[in-house]
Amino acid sequence: MAFKRAKITGVGRYLPDYVLTNEELESYVDTNDEWIRTRTGISERRILKDPDKATSFMATNAANEALKDAGVSAEEIDLVVVATVTPDYLFPATAALVQKRVGAKNAFAYDLSAACSGFLFALSTVGSMIESGRIKKALVIGADKMSSIMDFTDRSTCILFGDGAGAVVLEETNEDTGIVDFIQYTDGDEDNMLYQPAGGSLHPATEETVKNKQHYIKQDGRSVFKKATEGMADVSSEIMEKNNLKADDVAWLVPHQANLRIIHATARRMGLDKNKVMVNINKYGNTTAATIPLCLYDWKESLNDGDNIILSAFGGGLTWGAIYLKWSK
Ligand code: UT7
Repeated sequence: MAFKRAKITGVGRYLPDYVLTNEELESYVDTNDEWIRTRTGISERRILKDPDKATSFMATNAANEALKDAGVSAEEIDLVVVATVTPDYLFPATAALVQKRVGAKNAFAYDLSAACSGFLFALSTVGSMIESGRIKKALVIGADKMSSIMDFTDRSTCILFGDGAGAVVLEETNEDTGIVDFIQYTDGDEDNMLYQPAGGSLHPATEETVKNKQHYIKQDGRSVFKKATEGMADVSSEIMEKNNLKADDVAWLVPHQANLRIIHATARRMGLDKNKVMVNINKYGNTTAATIPLCLYDWKESLNDGDNIILSAFGGGLTWGAIYLKWSK
């Protein structure tokens, strides 16, 4: 069987128009622009205001742009995966809604839930399916409408998140490029450190759960910060070591955008200069599964064939990991 890899051939995104600034948040909760910027790196984030639009709307727009960028028609797609923790419905999968709306009528479709590591886990899963020869072309989408689970009276969480979607087309290649390696971890012991308490089968929606605000995201920020800093730095340096990559060999770090201090700690451990690190948390906040493809989109004109790129993420679960990919389009 011929050597196969999976490579990204198109990138797309969707960001809602509404810009929620730190100044506006000052009118909701006891916070201030200076605290938010110095503790997180965030200046503003996008919010999908239209109550009739949700994650599938953003994911569909991002997917259409990625298909156009790749020059691939929707009918050629074999698989659509949407990484999200804010699906339109618990079922059917958001990916099924996207499959229909983009016209990927030959594709099967499902969602993947790994919170902020969702896009990374989806990319490695779908990439492995392409490498196996089972499928040839896929859409991998990270999309979250975090504003649907944000408590705008809780200053410890409402300043952090934003809405958005990023998508890539992943295709089979016989070249020595694309996804080269990945390392991924889960620690299910810490399921209460970052979670949405109600709405699942353990605590279905009741008057009580709504009254107690259990449908909103809850996070023990300080503990997650410690775990995320260790996890992202460790796994990023581990994948470099495993693939004999020195800092000079790495062209870009594409980190999950949860906190600028976590991103800088990861880059420091990898020995990378700041100019090799993609950062857009200032503009979009933490868009959960969308952060990594949104970075790839913003930097796509700066990516060159042969660039060694490390994607790295940490999120609820707890989940974390890194992907090493060699760019070529
Ligand atoms: O994406 C998935 C993974 N998630 C993450 O990686 C997020 C990890 N955590 C973080 O990024 C940080 O922990 C936060 C940004 C959430 C919080 O930053 P911190 O430096 O860890 O602050 P803290 O929670 O230790 O709070 C420090 C102080 C507290 O006041 P006292 O107890 O020192 O008087 C908080 O009450 O800051 C206070 N505080 C705020 N002050 C102004 C907490 N939130 C705010 C706020 N504005 N929005």
